[in-house]
Amino acid sequence: MKLTSMHTVQTALALSVLSLACTAAAQSKPAAPEGGTPVAPAKAGNKSFTPPPATSIPDDEFGQMVKKGQDIFLRTGQYAKDYVGNSLNCVSCHLDAGRRPDASPLWGAYVLYPAYRSKNGHVNTLAERLQGCFQYSMNGMAPPADSETIVALESYMFWMAQQAPTGVKLEGQGYPRLAKPAQEPEYVRGQDVFEQNCALCHGANGEGQSAEGKMVFPALWGDESFNWGAGMHSVSTAAAFIKANMPLGKGGTLTDQEAWDVAFYMNSHERPQDPRFNGSLEETRKKYHDSPSDRYGQTVNDQVLGENSTPSGGGLREKG
Ligand code: HEC
Ligand code: HEC
Repeated sequence: MKLTSMHTVQTALALSVLSLACTAAAQSKPAAPEGGTPVAPAKAGNKSFTPPPATSIPDDEFGQMVKKGQDIFLRTGQYAKDYVGNSLNCVSCHLDAGRRPDASPLWGAYVLYPAYRSKNGHVNTLAERLQGCFQYSMNGMAPPADSETIVALESYMFWMAQQAPTGVKLEGQGYPRLAKPAQEPEYVRGQDVFEQNCALCHGANGEGQSAEGKMVFPALWGDESFNWGAGMHSVSTAAAFIKANMPLGKGGTLTDQEAWDVAFYMNSHERPQDPRFNGSLEETRKKYHDSPSDRYGQTVNDQVLGENSTPSGGGLREKG
């Protein structure tokens, strides 16, 4: 009796050692990142540009402006409050203070402007690009191009991109493109992904979470989030961001299908109105949202998205 049970224990031990060995062997082959900073597989060679450390911002007048830009980027509602109408910060979407590859890093953007943008049909200076971020992503108002807010952000970007080649699409710029999913993105599946992977931080209703009046987890929809004109409202853009970067700290773990489904679900909720809204949902959709990836003007649970939006500008409007 004793012997048998001893034997059983040993067999079990041997089996578990064997299975451990198998796991280790399996893990050493693919370059699948485990925990830590998420790195998309294609970037395993780490060839992307490395920005200078924040500690190397110079201690002079120029450095003062760079630091100001960094402050604005990290706590936008505090340092640029006249232009911000929601509770997001620039860093809510451009992770690690705008340094993280595949999360639309600032060093990747700096070297690409001025650039033609189909969004407004002309060549945009960097200042104009930044103004758009305030109007749409921050649901606020464009700071004047020569304002300290824009000059500080440009200084921060210039400093971060030093020694990067101009006019080159660096590895890690923007988000990695995500191929179309096998199945059309779908609301109920997306809700399921959301409840299991996102709600813990972003709240059951995507409203985000704050502590002591400070936003800790940003809102994914609703009045405190980006408006219908922001890049993130496009399902394909959101899917690409989410796949590479969410859940926070576990980027790359959702399947492509899950990323598309949860992006579809996230962007099937109301958010502040598109500042370009001209009074007609149909016309505004036709002019600015005419894409299968765009939920604006579509019907979800008997509600037409965009119909019950609060006016753009959020908190700024209340201030008057
Ligand atoms: C709600 C998320 C969100 C917020 C908040 C946000 N952005 Fe962005 N930003 C985006 C998206 C999405 C893009 C387009 C990225 C892409 O498609 O490559 C973008 C693009 C940019 C670009 C151009 C990137 C490139 O490579 O061409 C710059 C510069 C930028 N944002 C700066 C800012 C600044 C400054 C703020 C704060 C004032 C800000 N963003 C706030 C989501 C956001
Ligand atoms: C562990 C907490 C956590 C989880 C889980 C998580 N996020 Fe996030 N998410 C964050 C934080 C924090 C930020 C802002 C990053 C920053 O400020 O540095 C963020 C930013 C975002 C943003 C851009 C900002 C905004 O409000 O629009 C989106 C979109 C997003 N998350 C979607 C998701 C989705 C979808 C999931 C589930 C697949 C998810 N997140 C899971 C913590 C989390």
